[in-house]
Amino acid sequence: MSDTTERQGEIGAPVLTARNVVIRFGGLVAVNNVSFDVRPGEILGLIGPNGAGKTTMFDLLAGSILPSSGEIFLNGTLVSGEAAHRRIGRGLGRTFQIPRPLPNLTLIENVMLAAQGQAGERLLANFLTPWRVAAEERAAQTRAIELLELVALAHLAHEPARVLSGGQRKLLELARVMMADPAIILLDEPAAGVNATLLEVIIDRIRDINARGITFLLIEHNIDMVTRLCHRVLVMASGQLLCEGTADQVARDPRVIEAYLGGAA
Ligand SMILES: Nc1ncnc2c1ncn2[C@@H]1O[C@H](COP(=O)(O)OP(=O)(O)O)[C@@H](O)[C@H]1O
Ligand SMILES: [Mg+2]
Repeated sequence: MSDTTERQGEIGAPVLTARNVVIRFGGLVAVNNVSFDVRPGEILGLIGPNGAGKTTMFDLLAGSILPSSGEIFLNGTLVSGEAAHRRIGRGLGRTFQIPRPLPNLTLIENVMLAAQGQAGERLLANFLTPWRVAAEERAAQTRAIELLELVALAHLAHEPARVLSGGQRKLLELARVMMADPAIILLDEPAAGVNATLLEVIIDRIRDINARGITFLLIEHNIDMVTRLCHRVLVMASGQLLCEGTADQVARDPRVIEAYLGGAA
């Protein structure tokens, strides 16, 4: 049984909404008329067989691709025509199925790269107010170290990212996304290829970050992780939303069982 179900009652204006979202790639309708809300404070699961359209849905939500039709709202604002960096600025964070940190930069440097509106990036400001740039740089560094502590990687803060294992890269990815102060984080298969010990760390960190009020949308095949973390679960198959419920409910749904048996599983 889920040990997080007591938080299910939380309601409020949705953090993220997909309304009748469609994306066509030539003849393939990869996401077909999908609508859902992500409620503030929840961890919402998104599961379904390989090829269901889950990662494509993340691409649409994050702005890596634009929908053929339909709307996406972030905290009530229509964003479906906006570029990805604008949506990051509005509080949407996203991690990738295969994280690619810059291998020769340290963990701190990798995390600092994700800071929003850093003065150091503005060339003119560098000439006019170098003292302010230096102060912001120090603040960003302090924040990066705090976030590395949060994901249990502080002991490796000054190591190059290339020394990290696959699981540690997923934790670094979480610290990186936190640096931009997101209201919602989209996680694409955080448990894939992660060993059992590190998986427990990742589950704990997601819980901690969620307890700070950050909302999650989680794609994951590890059903144990989904059951333990998610307040609610959406199931996609063949580009469509099949059903919604608690992890236990959807696992018992005959339509879901059929989708997995008929699909890549
Ligand atoms: N850029 C693209 N061009 C063409 N087809 C794509 C593209 N991205 C994804 N697809 C197709 O869309 C479908 C859904 O893929 P994906 O979203 O990766 O599924 P999931 O993450 O659920 O495994 C697959 O058939 C995939 O081949
Ligand atoms: Mg995927």
